[in-house]
Amino acid sequence: MENLLISGGTRLHGKVRIHGAKNAALPILAATLLAGGPVTLREIPELEDVRTMLDLLKHLGVKVKRLAPCRYRLDPVGFAGWDAPYELVRKMRASFLVLGPILSLHGRTRVSLPGGCAIGSRPIDLHLKGLQALGAEISMGYGFIEAKSKQLRGNHIFLDYPSVGATENLLMAASLARGETVIVGCAQEPEVVDLANFLNILGAKISGAGTDRITVKGVQALGGGVEYTIIPDRIEAGTYLAAAAAAGGNLQLTNVEPEHLRPTLAKLVEAGATIQETDRGLFVERDGPLNSFDITTLPYPGFPTDLQPIFTALASLSQGVSLIRETVFENRFRYVDELLRMGASIKVEGNVALVYGVSTLYGTRVKAHDLRGGAALVVAALAAQGTTTLTCLHHLDRGYADLELNLQRVGAKIQRVPAEDTGIVTA
Ligand code: UD1
Repeated sequence: MENLLISGGTRLHGKVRIHGAKNAALPILAATLLAGGPVTLREIPELEDVRTMLDLLKHLGVKVKRLAPCRYRLDPVGFAGWDAPYELVRKMRASFLVLGPILSLHGRTRVSLPGGCAIGSRPIDLHLKGLQALGAEISMGYGFIEAKSKQLRGNHIFLDYPSVGATENLLMAASLARGETVIVGCAQEPEVVDLANFLNILGAKISGAGTDRITVKGVQALGGGVEYTIIPDRIEAGTYLAAAAAAGGNLQLTNVEPEHLRPTLAKLVEAGATIQETDRGLFVERDGPLNSFDITTLPYPGFPTDLQPIFTALASLSQGVSLIRETVFENRFRYVDELLRMGASIKVEGNVALVYGVSTLYGTRVKAHDLRGGAALVVAALAAQGTTTLTCLHHLDRGYADLELNLQRVGAKIQRVPAEDTGIVTA
C-alpha cells in the first residue's frame, strides 16, 4: 500500500503530454470483440481500469499483446467466452460494455452486475431496455444479468437519459443486428464518437455519432487488420489545467483536443486563467487572484461531471462564492469532507455545493473515496500550504497514468511512498 506526499505552494511550469482517453479506450477495447481479425490500438493509457478490461478480454479468449507502451494488438478471432465474472466486473463498471458485443456475436451472455466508483446508484436499466428493444430476452438473478437472442433485430430506441454507457453498448449490439437501428436521445460525448469511428473502420455502418440521434445499419460481420488511435483524454487534460490554475504558473499541454474542452476552458477563463490554443498545444497560465465561478454539470457538450470535484477544489481557493450543481450523479460530493479538513469552506445541500473561497488551504492527511474525488485532493494539495498525505491511491490509479511523474517534471513536490513510511496505513 502506498500514499502520496504532496508539499504544496510550488508554482507549476513546463509541459505535460496527455494520454489517450480512458473512457474511449474502455469501450473500444470491448468493441474489439466484434472484430473479424486482429486490431492494433495506439494511445491506450496504461491504467488500472485498462488492465481490468484487458484481463476480462483475455478471460473471454481474446489474445492480447503489448507491442510497445500504450500500443496493443488484440486478436479476438475464435474467442468463445460468454460470461463476465464478478471478480472482474466488480472492479469497474465499464466491464458491463462487453454485454452488447458478446450478445450480438454468441446469442447469449451472462454478465455480473457492475461495480465502479461510489458516486451514485448507477442503474443499468437503459442498457437493458435498449437491448430488449433489439429483441434480447433479459433475465436477472444472483447478481448476474443473462441476455439471450438468436438474432438481434434493428429497432427505434428512445433513451430517457443520454447515458454514455448505454449508448455505447447499443451501438456495439446494433452493429451486427439485422436491419436498421435508430437511437434517439443518445449521448453525444467525444468518446461515443471515437467508438463509432472505430466500429466504422471495422466495417460498421454508423452515422450521426456526436448528435442526439444515431443510425446504425446492421452488417453481417466486421473486419479486422486495422490500426486505430484513441482520442486524447479531456478529463486528464482538465485536471492538469485546473492544477495549474490552482497552484499558479504556466503549463503547456500536448496531445490535447481543445474542441472537447470548451466548457472547461470557459470556466478556467472565468476563474482568471489565460488560455492559449496553438499548434504546439494548449497553454494555461494563472498569475493573478482566482475568481469564483458557477458550474452545472450536464451531459456533453455541458460541463463534465468528472471534472466537478476538481473544479470545486479550484473554487475553494477563489475570492468569492461559487455554486456547483451536480445533475449527473447523485452522490458526487464525498470528497468535500476531505477538502473541509484542508480548510475549505463548503456547504452541501442536496445536489448543490456552495463554495466560500478561502485564501489558504492547509496540508493534512486526506483520503480518496473515488477516482475524481482523489484528483480533486491532489489539485487542492498542490496549492495548499504544508504537506498533504493522500491515502487510498488505488482510486487515482484507475484513471491517471504517470500522475506524480508528470507533476514532478513541472516542478511539483509530490512523491509516492510506502504507506508504512508515512505511518498512515488505510484500508
Ligand atoms: C461514463 C463515464 C464516466 C462519466 C459518465 C458521465 C466511462 C467508462 N465512464 O459513465 O466517467 O462520469 O459517463 O459522463 O465512460 N443511468 C441510468 N440508467 C442507465 C445508465 C445510466 O439511470 O442504464 C444514469 C446514471 O445513474 C447516471 C447517469 O445516467 O446518473 C449518467 O450515467 P452514464 O452516462 O451511463 O455514465 P457511465 O457510462 O456509467
